Amino acid sequence: MSNGRIGHGSSHPGYELAMLIPRAEIQRRVAALARRIHRIYDNQPLVVIGVMSGALFFLSDLLRRLEQPLQVELVTLRSYRGKSTKPSKIQWIHRMQADVAGKHVLLVDDILDSGQTLATVLRTIRRQKPLSCRTCVLLRKERAEKPKVEADWIGFPIADVFVVGYGLDFDGLYRNIPDIAVLQQK
Ligand code: IMP
Ligand code: MG
Repeated sequence: MSNGRIGHGSSHPGYELAMLIPRAEIQRRVAALARRIHRIYDNQPLVVIGVMSGALFFLSDLLRRLEQPLQVELVTLRSYRGKSTKPSKIQWIHRMQADVAGKHVLLVDDILDSGQTLATVLRTIRRQKPLSCRTCVLLRKERAEKPKVEADWIGFPIADVFVVGYGLDFDGLYRNIPDIAVLQQK
Protein backbone atom coordinates (compact mmCIF):
# COMPACT_ATOMS: atom_id res chain seq x y z
CA MET A 1 0.00 0.00 0.00
CA SER A 2 1.40 3.40 -0.88
CA ASN A 3 0.15 6.82 0.14
CA GLY A 4 1.18 8.87 -2.87
CA ARG A 5 -1.10 11.24 -4.71
CA ILE A 6 -2.60 9.74 -7.81
CA GLY A 7 -2.66 11.16 -11.31
CA HIS A 8 -6.37 11.92 -11.43
CA GLY A 9 -7.22 15.02 -9.46
CA SER A 10 -10.36 15.36 -7.38
CA SER A 11 -13.34 16.94 -9.11
CA HIS A 12 -14.56 18.19 -5.75
CA PRO A 13 -13.01 21.36 -4.34
CA GLY A 14 -11.49 20.81 -0.90
CA TYR A 15 -11.01 17.08 -1.53
CA GLU A 16 -8.07 15.07 -2.80
CA LEU A 17 -7.42 11.48 -3.79
CA ALA A 18 -4.90 9.38 -1.88
CA MET A 19 -3.76 6.06 -3.29
CA LEU A 20 -5.04 3.09 -1.31
CA ILE A 21 -4.73 0.02 -3.57
CA PRO A 22 -2.70 0.31 -6.79
CA ARG A 23 -3.98 -1.39 -9.95
CA ALA A 24 -1.32 -4.14 -9.99
CA GLU A 25 -2.25 -5.18 -6.47
CA ILE A 26 -5.94 -5.28 -7.43
CA GLN A 27 -5.19 -7.50 -10.41
CA ARG A 28 -3.09 -9.92 -8.33
CA ARG A 29 -5.86 -10.22 -5.77
CA VAL A 30 -8.58 -10.71 -8.40
CA ALA A 31 -6.51 -13.55 -9.91
CA ALA A 32 -6.17 -15.18 -6.48
CA LEU A 33 -9.92 -14.86 -5.84
CA ALA A 34 -10.71 -16.42 -9.22
CA ARG A 35 -8.47 -19.40 -8.40
CA ARG A 36 -10.27 -19.94 -5.09
CA ILE A 37 -13.69 -19.62 -6.68
CA HIS A 38 -12.74 -22.06 -9.40
CA ARG A 39 -11.59 -24.56 -6.77
CA ILE A 40 -15.05 -24.51 -5.11
CA TYR A 41 -17.19 -24.88 -8.23
CA ASP A 42 -14.70 -26.79 -10.35
CA ASN A 43 -16.34 -26.96 -13.78
CA GLN A 44 -19.96 -26.78 -12.64
CA PRO A 45 -22.02 -24.12 -14.42
CA LEU A 46 -22.49 -20.90 -12.54
CA VAL A 47 -24.70 -17.82 -12.70
CA VAL A 48 -22.63 -14.76 -11.79
CA ILE A 49 -24.76 -11.81 -10.71
CA GLY A 50 -23.01 -8.44 -10.67
CA VAL A 51 -24.34 -5.44 -8.77
CA MET A 52 -24.14 -2.35 -10.94
CA SER A 53 -22.61 0.02 -11.31
CA GLY A 54 -19.89 -0.25 -8.67
CA ALA A 55 -18.93 -3.85 -9.49
CA LEU A 56 -18.44 -3.06 -13.20
CA PHE A 57 -14.63 -3.36 -13.31
CA PHE A 58 -14.28 -6.02 -10.62
CA LEU A 59 -16.92 -8.19 -12.31
CA SER A 60 -15.34 -7.97 -15.74
CA ASP A 61 -11.82 -8.69 -14.46
CA LEU A 62 -13.05 -11.60 -12.35
CA LEU A 63 -15.16 -13.08 -15.18
CA ARG A 64 -12.18 -13.11 -17.53
CA ARG A 65 -10.34 -15.31 -15.06
CA LEU A 66 -13.13 -17.82 -14.34
CA GLU A 67 -12.90 -20.84 -16.58
CA GLN A 68 -16.13 -22.71 -15.86
CA PRO A 69 -19.24 -22.36 -18.05
CA LEU A 70 -21.15 -19.37 -16.74
CA GLN A 71 -24.01 -17.00 -17.33
CA VAL A 72 -23.75 -13.31 -16.41
CA GLU A 73 -26.63 -11.36 -14.98
CA LEU A 74 -26.63 -7.69 -13.98
CA VAL A 75 -28.78 -6.04 -11.36
CA THR A 76 -28.80 -2.35 -10.48
CA LEU A 77 -29.55 -0.93 -7.07
CA ARG A 78 -29.07 2.53 -5.72
CA SER A 79 -28.21 3.25 -2.13
CA TYR A 80 -27.20 6.83 -2.48
CA ARG A 81 -25.95 8.43 0.69
CA GLY A 82 -23.19 10.73 -0.50
CA LYS A 83 -19.93 10.29 1.36
CA SER A 84 -21.68 9.30 4.54
CA THR A 85 -21.42 5.65 5.54
CA LYS A 86 -24.87 5.78 7.13
CA PRO A 87 -27.15 3.18 5.53
CA SER A 88 -29.91 4.62 3.38
CA LYS A 89 -32.93 3.20 1.65
CA ILE A 90 -32.11 0.80 -1.15
CA GLN A 91 -33.86 1.30 -4.45
CA TRP A 92 -34.04 -1.32 -7.23
CA ILE A 93 -33.29 0.20 -10.63
CA HIS A 94 -32.97 -3.03 -12.63
CA ARG A 95 -34.16 -6.34 -11.21
CA MET A 96 -32.85 -9.83 -11.85
CA GLN A 97 -34.19 -11.38 -15.05
CA ALA A 98 -32.55 -14.84 -14.94
CA ASP A 99 -34.16 -17.90 -13.40
CA VAL A 100 -31.61 -19.25 -10.92
CA ALA A 101 -33.69 -22.10 -9.47
CA GLY A 102 -31.49 -25.18 -9.05
CA LYS A 103 -28.34 -23.32 -10.17
CA HIS A 104 -25.12 -22.27 -8.44
CA VAL A 105 -25.13 -18.49 -7.97
CA LEU A 106 -22.21 -16.18 -7.27
CA LEU A 107 -23.17 -12.63 -6.28
CA VAL A 108 -20.43 -10.04 -6.96
CA ASP A 109 -20.28 -6.51 -5.56
CA ASP A 110 -17.68 -3.79 -5.21
CA ILE A 111 -17.85 -3.15 -1.48
CA LEU A 112 -19.54 -4.51 1.61
CA ASP A 113 -20.37 -1.69 3.98
CA SER A 114 -23.62 -1.97 5.99
CA GLY A 115 -24.52 -5.10 4.03
CA GLN A 116 -27.94 -3.70 3.07
CA THR A 117 -27.30 -4.04 -0.65
CA LEU A 118 -26.12 -7.65 -0.52
CA ALA A 119 -28.91 -8.59 1.91
CA THR A 120 -31.52 -7.13 -0.47
CA VAL A 121 -30.20 -9.00 -3.52
CA LEU A 122 -29.69 -12.23 -1.56
CA ARG A 123 -33.34 -12.21 -0.46
CA THR A 124 -34.46 -12.06 -4.08
CA ILE A 125 -32.05 -14.81 -5.16
CA ARG A 126 -32.91 -17.17 -2.30
CA ARG A 127 -36.63 -16.90 -3.04
CA GLN A 128 -35.88 -18.73 -6.30
CA LYS A 129 -34.25 -21.67 -4.46
CA PRO A 130 -30.84 -21.81 -6.13
CA LEU A 131 -28.64 -24.87 -5.61
CA SER A 132 -26.17 -22.62 -3.79
CA CYS A 133 -25.56 -18.91 -3.38
CA ARG A 134 -22.22 -17.38 -2.42
CA THR A 135 -20.98 -13.80 -2.38
CA CYS A 136 -17.73 -12.16 -3.41
CA VAL A 137 -16.84 -8.52 -2.74
CA LEU A 138 -13.67 -6.70 -3.66
CA LEU A 139 -13.64 -4.55 -0.52
CA ARG A 140 -15.07 -4.91 2.96
CA LYS A 141 -15.16 -1.93 5.29
CA GLU A 142 -14.02 -2.59 8.82
CA ARG A 143 -16.74 -0.67 10.63
CA ALA A 144 -17.83 -0.72 14.26
CA GLU A 145 -21.22 -2.23 13.47
CA LYS A 146 -21.35 -5.72 11.99
CA PRO A 147 -22.74 -5.84 8.43
CA LYS A 148 -26.17 -7.42 7.83
CA VAL A 149 -24.51 -10.23 5.87
CA GLU A 150 -20.97 -11.48 5.47
CA ALA A 151 -19.28 -12.22 2.15
CA ASP A 152 -17.81 -15.62 1.35
CA TRP A 153 -14.84 -14.09 -0.47
CA ILE A 154 -13.30 -10.68 0.24
CA GLY A 155 -10.57 -9.03 -1.83
CA PHE A 156 -9.30 -6.48 0.68
CA PRO A 157 -10.51 -5.42 4.14
CA ILE A 158 -10.24 -1.61 4.36
CA ALA A 159 -10.69 1.02 7.06
CA ASP A 160 -13.99 2.89 7.36
CA VAL A 161 -13.04 5.51 4.76
CA PHE A 162 -14.73 6.65 1.55
CA VAL A 163 -13.09 5.10 -1.48
CA VAL A 164 -13.41 5.70 -5.21
CA GLY A 165 -11.96 4.26 -8.41
CA TYR A 166 -12.01 0.84 -10.10
CA GLY A 167 -15.78 1.21 -10.50
CA LEU A 168 -16.54 2.95 -7.21
CA ASP A 169 -17.97 6.43 -7.46
CA PHE A 170 -18.76 9.55 -5.55
CA ASP A 171 -21.60 11.50 -7.10
CA GLY A 172 -21.21 9.44 -10.28
CA LEU A 173 -17.56 10.42 -10.72
CA TYR A 174 -14.15 8.70 -10.37
CA ARG A 175 -15.29 5.24 -11.55
CA ASN A 176 -12.70 5.25 -14.35
CA ILE A 177 -9.65 5.55 -12.08
CA PRO A 178 -7.79 2.22 -12.43
CA ASP A 179 -6.60 2.28 -8.79
CA ILE A 180 -8.59 2.47 -5.56
CA ALA A 181 -8.15 5.79 -3.77
CA VAL A 182 -9.45 7.45 -0.61
CA LEU A 183 -11.46 10.61 -1.26
CA GLN A 184 -10.35 12.77 1.63
CA GLN A 185 -10.54 16.36 2.80
CA LYS A 186 -7.42 18.43 2.08
P1 IMP B 1 -24.00 -1.35 1.83
O1 IMP B 1 -25.36 -1.60 1.25
O2 IMP B 1 -24.02 -0.39 2.98
O3 IMP B 1 -23.21 -2.59 2.15
O4 IMP B 1 -23.19 -0.55 0.76
C1 IMP B 1 -22.82 -1.12 -0.40
C2 IMP B 1 -22.94 -0.14 -1.56
O5 IMP B 1 -22.73 1.24 -1.17
C3 IMP B 1 -21.85 -0.51 -2.50
O6 IMP B 1 -22.38 -1.37 -3.49
C4 IMP B 1 -21.38 0.81 -3.03
O7 IMP B 1 -22.07 1.07 -4.22
C5 IMP B 1 -21.76 1.85 -1.99
N1 IMP B 1 -20.60 2.25 -1.15
C6 IMP B 1 -20.37 1.94 0.13
N2 IMP B 1 -19.22 2.46 0.57
C7 IMP B 1 -18.69 3.12 -0.49
C8 IMP B 1 -17.47 3.85 -0.68
O8 IMP B 1 -16.60 4.02 0.20
N3 IMP B 1 -17.27 4.38 -1.92
C9 IMP B 1 -18.17 4.24 -2.93
N4 IMP B 1 -19.31 3.54 -2.81
C10 IMP B 1 -19.56 2.99 -1.59
MG1 MG C 1 -22.91 -0.69 -5.38
